[in-house]
Amino acid sequence: MKKIILTLFTLSFILSCKMSADFDDEKEVFIEDLISKMTLAEKAGQMNQYNGFWDATGPMPEGDYQKKRYNELKNGQVGSMLNVIGVDEIYALQKIAVEETRLGIPLIFGHDVIHGYKTIFPIPLAESSSWDLDLMEKSARVAATEASADGLNWTFAPMVDISRDARWGRVMEGAGEDPYLGSLVAKARVKGFQGDDLNDINSIVACAKHFAGYGFSEAGRDYNTTDFNHYTLHNTIMPPFKAAVDAGVRTFMNSFNTLDEIPATGHKHIQRDILKGDWNFDGFIVSDWGSIDQMIPHGFARDGEHAAELAVLAGSDMDMESSLYVSKLVGLVESGKVKEELLNDAVRRILRVKYELGLFEDPFKYCNKQRSDSELASDNNMKVALDAAKKSIVLLKNNNQLLPLQKEGEKIAIIGPLAGDKNSPLGNWRSQAVYNSASSVVEGMNKYKGNRIVYEKGVDLYYGKTNFHNRVKINYDDKSDFGKAKLAAATSDIVVMVLGEEGNQSGEGRSRTNIGLPGLQLELLKEINKINNNIILVVMSGRPLDLSWEDENIPAIVQAWHLGSKSGDAIAQVLYGDYNPSGKLTMSFPRNVGQVPVYYNFKNTGRPSTSIEQVTNSGYADVENSPLYSFGHGLSYTNFSYTNFSIDTDKLGIDSKINASIEIENIGNYKGKEVVQLYIRDIVGSIARPMKELKGFKSVELEPGESKTVNFQIDSSMLEFYTYGNKWESEVGKFHVFVGGNSNITEFKEFYLTD
Ligand code: NOJ
Repeated sequence: MKKIILTLFTLSFILSCKMSADFDDEKEVFIEDLISKMTLAEKAGQMNQYNGFWDATGPMPEGDYQKKRYNELKNGQVGSMLNVIGVDEIYALQKIAVEETRLGIPLIFGHDVIHGYKTIFPIPLAESSSWDLDLMEKSARVAATEASADGLNWTFAPMVDISRDARWGRVMEGAGEDPYLGSLVAKARVKGFQGDDLNDINSIVACAKHFAGYGFSEAGRDYNTTDFNHYTLHNTIMPPFKAAVDAGVRTFMNSFNTLDEIPATGHKHIQRDILKGDWNFDGFIVSDWGSIDQMIPHGFARDGEHAAELAVLAGSDMDMESSLYVSKLVGLVESGKVKEELLNDAVRRILRVKYELGLFEDPFKYCNKQRSDSELASDNNMKVALDAAKKSIVLLKNNNQLLPLQKEGEKIAIIGPLAGDKNSPLGNWRSQAVYNSASSVVEGMNKYKGNRIVYEKGVDLYYGKTNFHNRVKINYDDKSDFGKAKLAAATSDIVVMVLGEEGNQSGEGRSRTNIGLPGLQLELLKEINKINNNIILVVMSGRPLDLSWEDENIPAIVQAWHLGSKSGDAIAQVLYGDYNPSGKLTMSFPRNVGQVPVYYNFKNTGRPSTSIEQVTNSGYADVENSPLYSFGHGLSYTNFSYTNFSIDTDKLGIDSKINASIEIENIGNYKGKEVVQLYIRDIVGSIARPMKELKGFKSVELEPGESKTVNFQIDSSMLEFYTYGNKWESEVGKFHVFVGGNSNITEFKEFYLTD
């Protein structure tokens, strides 16, 4: 039998009734049968993933490097490829895999579909600020629909790394600093990508990454060493990964960093004991790019052979771009250093996911040009992107109700290098977005015709065309356009300033030690402020920036992140009040970079500080400990009042519940949406406990004058944490519960968990 694929069609009856209880058994039988036919080299091949390396629709590859890879592909020594884009390319490579290799095992095609494929959604950190889980599931679904229509079947998302350090450029890819919210977001995104059935044509495999601890890189420097304790690992870092497993995620990616001084890729305890053992994960783990090879510079592996050995022993199933599994595993098994069963285990996991995708039934199922033409960047998808963009905006400050803008009779100057920028709002990890394809703020604002609008960029933020691979070249000296901007400000009633980071200033390899407005932007803002203080500052960024001067001096500040394809329309609709902002921060904004890492769920210390004046307490001499804008903060054009906070009992048993209720009233003039948040503090624990932990939230929409009672049920499972006894459990004792509109709430009710 040359082509296993042909014989597999006889299995179609099995696949057609795959929802039946027999599906898993049939799948496993099929996989075992296939593994029994594979040579060692073919097994190592399934565990090998290459980046796209030649134009597969053009001539055969030239050059030794390409030829070698091409021959490996034909020999069944490649199991997956990444970054191969488009139906034609994917079809051509899949054809080689299923028609020219001995066993005809299809490839699985992966790509970083992080916040959209062609239609670009807000960066994940922004989208998490919507606290709208349905929305996040929907945007992942749209991304999956577009990517699958264009031939792909696997995304390297969601990134579920918790991070507390805004210097780290990759905070843009995550859901912020909180493990509870991060877990819900992880689940929503996995469901969105994978749908209810992986075999659906619109579903792609999700990948929880980076396992584990990558978000805790020291000093926010990418790829750096981490240093956190066992309890932080379990209580803060692991929960979103566990949630992804519970949501059925089929792949994991490990990470570049060390944890416990061991590179994650070679970390047996987290991969084999925790993920595959305790959590029963039966999908597969892909290494990060070259991370097997990188165990050599880490000083953990002697050479390539040793690195491959350590990685496979630790449970890394697929090698992304180190070429070490394909070149070393056969020898390692033959020399007895690695047991063949370890390869079988990895291959079994990889084949399982391919089977669940339906690739054995139809390896070309994602290669439908018509589908790709109609699905990508469709009007419907763009509508979802606009909705997501509006809901991701966070109103940080709005003195004297400067916002929303009036729709008529105003003279408005729009100033700032990002106001006319159609590229930056696409952010980093923008997949197949067309360069310059986002709507700009100027375009969005110009759709409103009632005001006189002038636009002056004021200064360039950067030079040239930016991309994923190069550093953005920031303008530090050319102020020649300041004058025109000042004139525009002087002759206007209101100034909308759009400042912040270029889209590629955050993301992988984009750590910064200074997280203020880059280049000459702050200087421009200060100059304009001297002329006209009616400033609405719109901040575009991929991370929390240091906005201390801005907060002190500028009356209105809107955090607008990198919002994707519909950025400018969304910002304009918010500024004009057609959408009342409802976003809440999921990451604290520091008072200055020296405060970082700063996060709401900190520990009290033995000497808690309440003022700068205290000397021998745990505080700074120059700024308060609290962040500038806290986790959960976000204003609306209306105001909400919270009253009548109560709990129905102050005793909680292991099987009982407490009802916490609060009345919320819209006391302003606009209809508005508020995310009501529930926090709990465990007063004494077997390990020191955080000052507050988010445990629930509800979104409430109210007309002016309307009020509602919001109820939260508290049960003992919400009090569980990874204790000194090294297990998840709750501990009896005293707790405080807080309910309100951000993590700064001080009013609490006390209750006791009893035996
Ligand atoms: C390296 C990044 O760390 C990872 O997140 C990404 O998925 C891979 N490169 C593939 O692009």
